Amino acid sequence: MSLLSELNRQILSCQDCSLSKGRTNVVPGEGADNADIIFVGEAPGWHEDQQGRPFVGPAGHYLDDLLKSINLKRSNVFIANIIKCRPPSNRDPLPAEIQACKKWLDQQLDLIRPKVIVTLGRYSLSRFFPGEVISKVHGTVRTGNGTVYFAMYHPAAALHQQSLKKIIEADMLKLPRILQELGTIQEKKEEVKQLNLF
Ligand code: URA
Repeated sequence: MSLLSELNRQILSCQDCSLSKGRTNVVPGEGADNADIIFVGEAPGWHEDQQGRPFVGPAGHYLDDLLKSINLKRSNVFIANIIKCRPPSNRDPLPAEIQACKKWLDQQLDLIRPKVIVTLGRYSLSRFFPGEVISKVHGTVRTGNGTVYFAMYHPAAALHQQSLKKIIEADMLKLPRILQELGTIQEKKEEVKQLNLF
């Protein structure tokens, strides 16, 4: 069993906040252990709570379409949420719930070490960049702790607000170039390392 599977198994038995009492299933997240990109949403909704899998309702189907637009499948990336259990009636997550759940996503990120963390929606954005406003920073890259972050609107928001659809679709199309550039930087670093050997 990989370290990530072991961690996800531990998440399944978490009882660190009261959301554990109302859940049907915990939703740790899923995807490639060595994914270059992780998409981080807000919290499981009804469908996710039923199935124990992230983004499997309407917003998830739209996320699948967005991934397809850049020739990616769910199995190429990792998909997770900032909190792992569904809040009652899909209400917004509370600060105490986000804090109680923080350790799980932190550990997932430590193990996966993605090149890019894509934040989906305002809660995910402010989990990493408190005080940032999504309407200002969506579609832009920022760095922190040696990682590249890319902010996008939440797919559910785009489903409810037609004007956001074009924006989220255009932002998604920026990702391949960002990954390509990061790959080039990495290659250059490797070259420098090799040169230092001689
Ligand atoms: N919305 C989210 O933020 N996460 C999910 O897993 C599903 C819907």
